[in-house]
Amino acid sequence: MKRDLITPQDFTVEELDHLFDLADDIREHPAKYAHACEGKKMATCFFEPSTRTRLSHETAMLNLGGRTMGFPDAGVSSATKGETVADTARVISCFADIMVIRHPREGAAMVAAQYASIPVINAGDGGHQHPTQTLTDLLTIRSLQGHLDHFTIGLCGDLKFGRTVHSLINALVRYPDVHFVFISPPELKVPDYITDKLDELGIPYEEHVRLEDAISKLDILYMTRIQKERFFNEDDYVRLKNFYILDAEKMKLAKKDCYVLHPLPRVNEIAAEVDSDPRAAYFRQVQYGVYVRMALILTLLNIHID
Ligand code: NCD
Repeated sequence: MKRDLITPQDFTVEELDHLFDLADDIREHPAKYAHACEGKKMATCFFEPSTRTRLSHETAMLNLGGRTMGFPDAGVSSATKGETVADTARVISCFADIMVIRHPREGAAMVAAQYASIPVINAGDGGHQHPTQTLTDLLTIRSLQGHLDHFTIGLCGDLKFGRTVHSLINALVRYPDVHFVFISPPELKVPDYITDKLDELGIPYEEHVRLEDAISKLDILYMTRIQKERFFNEDDYVRLKNFYILDAEKMKLAKKDCYVLHPLPRVNEIAAEVDSDPRAAYFRQVQYGVYVRMALILTLLNIHID
């Protein structure tokens, strides 16, 4: 049976622990894994723009000694001729050993996984899920604070359209005693289906509009950009785009060990002066993303290195 990663729930908490242990081992002993994927090919099929996610997957495969191919945007693929995701997935299965797909439509990666005979990694499907970013976020949090339970996380920015936020909440509800603090403009609140789920599970959360009102209680602050491309009208975007700007002044209100994460790209929501704060962890997060994707590729290809 082949395995895919379409949502973070495709792996149990125990499986995620193993994956993160593997990522730690890769970080400590990269040479051990340098030939693990020799002779294997990964196709990256990106129907939506990306810098980090595509290059991070490609770097991960290259670090494992494998090769990569693919396309960086829908405009250069047969999607412009009307090819369906199902057909693309069947075709790519003839070329590659593993496929990474990003698509503007919710559910597209799941369709690809149904039709592909090779493992499929969802690299973002519309405003829905972004599971490899979530693996990156979880590994970063685990590495920085040493555990994934008993902490308070603030998610700030566009909680309505931000798929990294939706994926991360989905993943964190499985760990004990994680307290959620949602900070967003009223128009960009976390969707009801997520708060309904939290209510159902009896998981407490708070909602705030001002970052200043919440920042001092956080162990992790997860900043996000306002998702311009998912807005229906430009005026709303212009009105909301500078709603949050995390700067040195606001960081003074945060705990001494409150790490700041961001899936990137950032626009204006974190001032450059915060980059030199030791609590700013968003560039370290990018590096963790490579280790965790290396661990994921090995796991999905069922390759074990002693
Ligand atoms: C995120 C995405 O594509 O959802 N970027 C990423 O993959 N690191 C976040 C974003 O675009 O804001």
